[in-house]
Amino acid sequence: MATDGPARFRCPDCAKAVGPLADAPACPGCGRVFAPAGGVWDLLPHALDATKVNEDRAHQDEGLPTWRRLFFHKLYGIEWCENKWLPQLREGRTRRVLEIGGGLCYAGALAKARAPHAWVAATDISPRYLRQHAVRVGSILGSPADAYAAADAEALPFEDEQFDAVYSQVVIYRLPDPVRALREIHRVLAPGGRYLGIERASPWLPPFTGREIREMGARSEAAGTGERPITYRGWREILARAGFPSTSLQVEPGGRVRSPSLRRLGNAVRPIYVAIRLAR
Ligand SMILES: C[S@@+](CC[C@H](N)C(=O)[O-])C[C@H]1O[C@@H](n2cnc3c(N)ncnc32)[C@H](O)[C@@H]1O
Ligand SMILES: [Zn+2]
Repeated sequence: MATDGPARFRCPDCAKAVGPLADAPACPGCGRVFAPAGGVWDLLPHALDATKVNEDRAHQDEGLPTWRRLFFHKLYGIEWCENKWLPQLREGRTRRVLEIGGGLCYAGALAKARAPHAWVAATDISPRYLRQHAVRVGSILGSPADAYAAADAEALPFEDEQFDAVYSQVVIYRLPDPVRALREIHRVLAPGGRYLGIERASPWLPPFTGREIREMGARSEAAGTGERPITYRGWREILARAGFPSTSLQVEPGGRVRSPSLRRLGNAVRPIYVAIRLAR
């Protein structure tokens, strides 16, 4: 159950409960000592799958400065966060917040600005990206998260029922095991807690799906990552396998076409965005 202050975490190597994510705790199971480096906690297991190591490598080559990434590339993301997720954070009622696969982690910083009393953790699989950009974004926006941590969405290094609000944006589609990630997210939700995930649904008409499979496939093969197209039906299947009702998946309205059924029709040839909502 969520109380105030830092979330309780578990050792990513031996899964033993360690305690609150603060000071320099040591794992009572394997003795691993945790301390932030460059403002970022490493909560990844020592043995990490190649796909996940490659996610970190994929960030290496792009030389764009932080402010350009944030203000030029993330406009829509910031709007989703602002309009869909942040209103969920309630003054005095939201004690802990988690951003997953945050990249620049503007959502974590904006959440901290919206709910300064809450303890906010901004996480991503890439410790390098967090150190180089996310920590900086926190200062640019003037409200850094309380903790920046490298963490795997498929094996969240937190104890059960820790967070009142969890957010991710275009992350689940690139995970090798999305079902596992959704179950993990549900596990760390505190009673009354809510998760919002914004994801992309690829076009469902075969020639257009085929094109995405080829393009994304080439990209993920070159980078060694798990990125792949998932259609609306694919998302429904993933949710069903994870044990969540079909109502957990909703079509995101577009700027011009707001009706969900028309959006689904247009989704034959164009990608749309969908929202995954989980609650405990
Ligand atoms: C398309 S980016 C989206 C970043 C951010 N959410 C945004 O909207 O700006 C996908 C992010 O997922 C992260 N990611 C990939 N695999 C992950 C995993 N297993 N666990 C956590 N994050 C992961 C990547 O490092 C990357 O930052
Ligand atoms: Zn341990």
